[in-house]
Amino acid sequence: MIVDSLGRRFRNLRLSLTAACNYACEYCVPDGKRLQTAAHELSAAEMLRAVELLIEAAGIEKVRITGGEPLLSPKFDELLPELMGLPLTDVAITTNGQLVARKIDTIVRSGVKRINLSLDTLDAERFPVIAKSGDLETVLHGIDLLQEAGVRLKVNMVPVRSLNADQLVPLLEFCFERGIELRYIELMNMGYLRSSNRYVHEFIGMEEILHAIGERYEYARTDAPYDSTAVRFEVPGEGVFGIIANESEPFCSSCTRLRLASNGHLYGCLSNTSSHAIAPILSMSQHLALAALQRVMVAALGDKQDLAFHGETTVMKFIGG
Ligand code: 5AD
Repeated sequence: MIVDSLGRRFRNLRLSLTAACNYACEYCVPDGKRLQTAAHELSAAEMLRAVELLIEAAGIEKVRITGGEPLLSPKFDELLPELMGLPLTDVAITTNGQLVARKIDTIVRSGVKRINLSLDTLDAERFPVIAKSGDLETVLHGIDLLQEAGVRLKVNMVPVRSLNADQLVPLLEFCFERGIELRYIELMNMGYLRSSNRYVHEFIGMEEILHAIGERYEYARTDAPYDSTAVRFEVPGEGVFGIIANESEPFCSSCTRLRLASNGHLYGCLSNTSSHAIAPILSMSQHLALAALQRVMVAALGDKQDLAFHGETTVMKFIGG
């Protein structure tokens, strides 16, 4: 197994099915510009081959299906059941929830147990101001369908001062009522945010989030797994919530994530534009492919930051967070 000087190795793979998204969130892309499918996206068969090889070459144990918006991809129906059949301890999905009704049969049939759903506001009028598309009602219906099917849900919310600062507690209460773990994701200085001074004004950190919650609830910090990105808190009698504190409490030193973009490029770090094209490796014989991938793993592990997230111009959307 390839391990770096901080004891880090790759364990979790985030697999971006497509760069395309049906949202164009205000904090993700400029001027409502939706991202499209990448010019050369891997096929479902190539992605499956990549995951099989990465299980062996890198010791990948868990896969999270991301995008863009993964439910938009025609590969989703084919790939999900195949991934569920691989020797992994977990397969999960991150989605914005707009297409859940259309994909619920595939999801239920696959047996996938955990889905993270992005939802930044419960205000139906605000919703399209943030996402530039879609609607709240569809997402809420998607949540109902998934819960009825017994899928364990987390909701991801990115607090942004000018967009949803008033939603910190309402979203928490919504999640408590439904037994969902809410995860506040501190805004990361990525993509086009980096080209303006907007980030500084828009950022809402862990302290401020906890202050807002503390006005209503008593909370206590609880344990989180070693390579979890979230700081977790419990509100006795109500539930658990997490904060992905990229800025306030960086977790780079225990990061085990590896990312495969839909165009076949591997990224060792979300905060580093350096990437490694693996499409040519996928058609090699098993022996050569594993040797080649192991060399890529050494380079990709070297791309990780030691301590804190520095931010990059990479657009979150095409690499799926
Ligand atoms: N900072 C933090 N989170 C972000 N996401 C997208 N862009 C950013 C950003 N700049 C979130 C999405 C989704 C998850 C995959 O990443 O809202 O919930």
